Amino acid sequence: MKLTRERMLAEMGITPLWKQRSAQIGEAARPAGENPPPEPVAGGATAPAGGDIAALGWEGLQERVAVCRACVLGEHRKQAVLGVGDRRPEWLFIGEGPGAEEDVQGEPFVGQAGKLLDAMLAAIDLKRGDKVYIANAVKCRPPGNRTPEAEEMAACWPYLRRQIALLQPRIIVLLGRAAVHTVLKSDKALSALRGKPYDFSGIPVVVTYHPAYLLRNLPEKAKAWEDLLFARALLRQAADRGAPLDLAG
Ligand code: SF4
Ligand code: URA
Repeated sequence: MKLTRERMLAEMGITPLWKQRSAQIGEAARPAGENPPPEPVAGGATAPAGGDIAALGWEGLQERVAVCRACVLGEHRKQAVLGVGDRRPEWLFIGEGPGAEEDVQGEPFVGQAGKLLDAMLAAIDLKRGDKVYIANAVKCRPPGNRTPEAEEMAACWPYLRRQIALLQPRIIVLLGRAAVHTVLKSDKALSALRGKPYDFSGIPVVVTYHPAYLLRNLPEKAKAWEDLLFARALLRQAADRGAPLDLAG
C-alpha cells in the first residue's frame, strides 16, 4: 500500500514544519554539480583489517567481520553487524555503528533510531531491503554507544569500501558525522556539508543528519526531509543522464 504524502510526513513527525516551509523545500531539487566536493575523496585509510578485503565476496566479508580484531571494538561486541538489505540497491544508507539492540540482533538500525530511519525511508516511498541497503561506518558496537574513534573508522573502512564496490548503489546517503568522516574524509559540520552533492567513485553522495540526532532535535527533521528529496532528485538526474534505472515513484 502506498502511503499518502500527508501520512508519510506525519510518520516522520514533520507535518507542521513541512507546511511552514513547503516553498523552500520545493527548491531542494537544485541541480547537481553546481557545488563540487570541498576536498578530494581519498582512496581510503590504511587497511589494517587486511589488504585482501578488496577481493572478498559477501560470504567472505561476513566471515571476516565476525572474527575481526583490527580495532578495539572487536573486543567488546556480541557480534559484528555487516549490513542489511538489497544487494543490488539503488540506495545505500550509512550510519555510525551498531547500538545495543543491533549488537544483539545483528542488524543495523533496529532500535529507536532505526524506527525513525524506517519512517524516513517510507517518506520517500522506500523500505528496508527493497532497493535499499543499510550499513554502518563501524561494524562493531562502541562500548556505551560512544562515537567511534577516527582510528576505529579507519580500521573498519576497508569493509565498507568493499561493500560499496559490491553493491554499486546509485546513490549514497551519509547519516551523520561518522559516515561523513569515513566516506568523504571530512570533519566539517553537517550543516555546512548538507544540500550539496558529493562523489565517491562516481556515485553521488548526499549528507544528512543521523536519525538519533533527529530524535533529540526534532525541528531538524524538516532538513532531513529536504536532504532526502535532494537525494531523490540527484538519483533521478543520474537516471536522466542514461543510467539504466527503473525508477518507480
Ligand atoms: Fe574489525 Fe570493524 Fe569490528 Fe573494528 S569495528 S573489530 S575494524 S569489524
Ligand atoms: N545508529 C547507527 O548509526 N547505526 C545503527 O545501526 C543503529 C544506530
